[in-house]
Amino acid sequence: MCRMCWALVVVLGISSGFMAYKFILSGSVEKSDDGRLAIQLTNGERDIVFTEMRTFLESVQQITQGVASKDFDAVAKAARKVGRAAQQAVPGTLVGKLPLEFKKMGFDTHTKFTQLALYAEQLSDGEQTLEQLGELLQNCVSCHAIYKIETTDNQ
Ligand code: HEC
Repeated sequence: MCRMCWALVVVLGISSGFMAYKFILSGSVEKSDDGRLAIQLTNGERDIVFTEMRTFLESVQQITQGVASKDFDAVAKAARKVGRAAQQAVPGTLVGKLPLEFKKMGFDTHTKFTQLALYAEQLSDGEQTLEQLGELLQNCVSCHAIYKIETTDNQ
């Protein structure tokens, strides 16, 4: 009888390990024709991600303009808008669908914007800001090279 218990424990252990892998590490992804991993989201979830993306782009534009006009308050303000503190609460279902690597890169991007804001305020050094921006943009490039979004809703 207890052998059965152990067998059950092992089976449950393996399957919950698999579930943990599936939901925490890999998220909800499919292979796609262009070689990227396609994250499977509903239209609403995609809209949340895209809205954040467009805010990223807007901040990059404002930071670049701020450096050109040596307005480091504007640089810091634009960077803070997408910094760690501005990170929005994301619905749990969406969090579960995003691969761990995606979340790490996203989190790191917010962190780098916060760092850029701090340096801009303290140093007011355009070259420093551009160097940080260049490094940060590497995250955008890497993530876009690996992932895309597909919607699971009928359209
Ligand atoms: C953690 C991953 C990740 C990071 C980091 C990231 N993006 Fe994205 N972004 C995506 C994905 C995935 C898409 C959807 C691409 C697709 O489906 O082809 C996207 C789409 C976009 C879009 C299109 C939005 C729309 O409304 O169509 C813009 C603009 C964008 N990203 C800008 C940026 C900028 C600027 C950065 C860096 C500051 C950045 N992203 C960082 C994953 C990321």
